[in-house]
Amino acid sequence: MNAKEEFKKMNRAFYERYSRLDDSDDFWAYLFKPVRQSIRINTLKAPLELVLERLSERYELEPVPWVREGFFIRPPGGGTVNFGEMPEYSLGLVIPQEASSMIPPVVLEPKPGELILDMAAAPGSKTTQIAQYMENEGCIIANDAKRDRANILIANLNRAGVLIAKVTVRDGAYFGRYENTFDRVLLDAPCSSVGMVRKNFKFAYTWSIHKVLYHTRIQRKLILAAYRALKPGGVLVYSTCTVDPLENEAVVDFLLQRTDAKLEKIKLPVKGREPILEWEGREFSPEVKKTLRIHPQDNDTEAFFVAKIRKPR
Ligand SMILES: C[S@@+](CC[C@H](N)C(=O)[O-])C[C@H]1O[C@@H](n2cnc3c(N)ncnc32)[C@H](O)[C@@H]1O
Repeated sequence: MNAKEEFKKMNRAFYERYSRLDDSDDFWAYLFKPVRQSIRINTLKAPLELVLERLSERYELEPVPWVREGFFIRPPGGGTVNFGEMPEYSLGLVIPQEASSMIPPVVLEPKPGELILDMAAAPGSKTTQIAQYMENEGCIIANDAKRDRANILIANLNRAGVLIAKVTVRDGAYFGRYENTFDRVLLDAPCSSVGMVRKNFKFAYTWSIHKVLYHTRIQRKLILAAYRALKPGGVLVYSTCTVDPLENEAVVDFLLQRTDAKLEKIKLPVKGREPILEWEGREFSPEVKKTLRIHPQDNDTEAFFVAKIRKPR
C-alpha cells in the first residue's frame, strides 16, 4: 500500500499542500496508519497505582513519556479496546485521550486554587486533565461555542468527578472583556484537524483550503481574546491538532505582532521538529522557533502544535 498514492486519490489538493510541508514517506505512511489507543488515569477518582494494577491484569500498557498519568493501551495479542465495555471508563477512572492531546494541559501547569479559562473545551478531555492537576481546588471556566458539544462536556465532567468547572456556551471572543482576569488560559482551538486523519479519513476527504482560511480567522480572534483575558505573569497555551502553518505558527506570529506576548520553550520528553518560519512568502518572528510542532511520525501520535505564551508583568 503506497500511502502517498492513497492520499492523492482521496484529495489531491490536500496531498499537494502538505507535501510542501513534509514530503517524507514516513509522514504519509504514519498519517495513513490508525493511531495507537491511549488513556489517561483520572487521579481525581482513585490513586494511579490502584487503577494501573487493575488494568494491567487485562491490558498491555506502555507509559506515555510526557504525561505521568498517560498510557498506550491494547488488549494482549493486539486488537482494539472497546471503551464502552470497560467498567473503569464508565466509572470515570480512565479517560480515553490521544497521547499528543495530553501535552497542552501539562504545558499549562495549572495549580490548585487558580482561576483557569478553557476557551474551547468540549468534549472536555483537557478540562478533566486540568481539574486533575488542580486536585479539584479552584475554578475552571469551561467554555464551548456549541451547545450540543457543551452537553457532552458536562457529561464527561460529571463522569470524571470534576467539581470545579463552570460550563458556559459562548463565542470564546466574549472572554476578551474580562481583561487581566485568569491565571492561565487554554485555547485548544477549532482547526482543520489534519492530525485527526489517523482517526478518520473523512478529515482528508473533506479538507479544503477554505476550511484552513475559515479556521485561521477564528483562531486569530480567539487568541487575541484569550491573551486579553490573561493576568499579567499568566500563561496562555495555544494548541491545535493540525499541521497547517496558517493555523499554527502564523497565528502565534499574529499575536506576537499585536501584543507584548512572549513565547517560552516547551521542555518535555517529546520529539518535535523545527517550526515553520516562512510560508507562502511570509516570514514569521524567529521567536516562533520556541513552539512545538509534532508530525505523526515523530512519536507515532496524531499531529499536534503547542505554543506556551506568557504575558509580561
Ligand atoms: C479542538 S476542539 C476542543 C477539544 C477539547 N479542548 C478537548 O480537549 O476535549 C475545538 C472546540 O472549539 C469549539 N469552538 C468552535 N468555535 C468556537 C468559538 N468561536 N469559541 C469557542 N469555542 C469554539 C468547537 O465546538 C470544539 O468543541
